[in-house]
Amino acid sequence: MPALGVLLLFTIFTITRATLTNVTIDDTDLSYFTWTEDTDVFPQPTIPWAAITPTTPCDYCSAQPQTTDIHNQTWHDGSNNSAGSFTFQGQAVYIYGISQANSVNTSFTMDGNVSAFHYYTGSAQFVFNSLFFSAKDLTPNVNHTVSWVLHATNTSGVTGAGLFDYAVITVDQTQSSSSSPSSSSTSPPSPAPPSKSKSKAGPIAGGVVAAGSHSSQPSAL
Ligand SMILES: *[C@@H]1O[C@H](CO)[C@@H](O)[C@H](O)[C@H]1NC(C)=O
Ligand SMILES: *[C@@H]1O[C@H](CO)[C@@H](O)[C@H](O)[C@H]1NC(C)=O
Ligand SMILES: *[C@@H]1O[C@H](CO)[C@@H](O)[C@H](O)[C@H]1NC(C)=O
Ligand SMILES: *[C@@H]1O[C@H](CO)[C@@H](O)[C@H](O)[C@H]1NC(C)=O
Ligand SMILES: *[C@@H]1O[C@H](CO)[C@@H](O)[C@H](O)[C@H]1NC(C)=O
Ligand SMILES: *[C@@H]1O[C@H](CO)[C@@H](O)[C@H](O)[C@H]1NC(C)=O
Ligand SMILES: *[C@@H]1O[C@H](CO)[C@@H](O)[C@H](O)[C@H]1NC(C)=O
Repeated sequence: MPALGVLLLFTIFTITRATLTNVTIDDTDLSYFTWTEDTDVFPQPTIPWAAITPTTPCDYCSAQPQTTDIHNQTWHDGSNNSAGSFTFQGQAVYIYGISQANSVNTSFTMDGNVSAFHYYTGSAQFVFNSLFFSAKDLTPNVNHTVSWVLHATNTSGVTGAGLFDYAVITVDQTQSSSSSPSSSSTSPPSPAPPSKSKSKAGPIAGGVVAAGSHSSQPSAL
């Protein structure tokens, strides 16, 4: 391959990487989040998630965190067998919540694969902006779904709760105008590479990204 072609490929790849952007999605956004119960449990649990907002406090919830450090002052409070999911398009995902001493064990699956769990072992009453789950190097422009189920234990007569606050996704603004999972493939105006190199660079740069998807390593903290 001519040296100039190689140079152009690297230039375009650099431009693509430079436009990665993090987007924060609140737990109230039901176009991304679903809040359900574990369908594997029978009979179905009867206590649903509490969706807490400034105007809808949860008086019966055992966890009453101060709201100053909570994103949008809203969160979801779940207990034993509460489940949820987050569907998105992006290259990385981070699920944040409020850890608390009376922890539930939350198991996570990524695109149907069991991949991690979150269980807080510290002693702080509340830890805000706590990373529950993350996954990187995902294939862009396809739907991904993170799912979770809460497993509560009975510690000293108190059943634990899981508090979910928000998610962050990393999206490439040059490839997708919107991070919404329902978005079409419309593209915003972006710095146009030289037209001659575009047809060569597209498949190869895409191959680099796709190769990374096989080494996706969700992790728990
Ligand atoms: C997005 O947020 C994560 C977690 O805070 C961070 O590691 C990553 O560098 C951020 N990415 C961008 C493109 O800002
Ligand atoms: C913040 O929460 C309110 C409900 O209290 C919701 O209507 C609004 O859409 C949320 N804002 C964002 C940016 O998610
Ligand atoms: C949490 O659940 C996972 C399985 O999803 C298990 O491997 C792990 O030991 C559990 N941790 C605690 C502290 O219960
Ligand atoms: C889980 O991961 C494996 C290998 O990483 C993949 O082949 C499979 O399609 C994934 N999904 C499910 C639902 O098992
Ligand atoms: C949580 O639910 C499971 C499955 O129904 C049950 O076996 C377990 O005893 C429950 N734990 C508590 C603390 O209620
Ligand atoms: C939790 O344990 C206490 C005793 O420590 C018991 O009285 C209570 O019924 C238990 N609650 C559940 C939901 O199992
Ligand atoms: C992606 O997810 C959105 C929202 O959940 C859905 O409307 C759309 O049909 C999904 N697309 C594919 C290809 O599965």
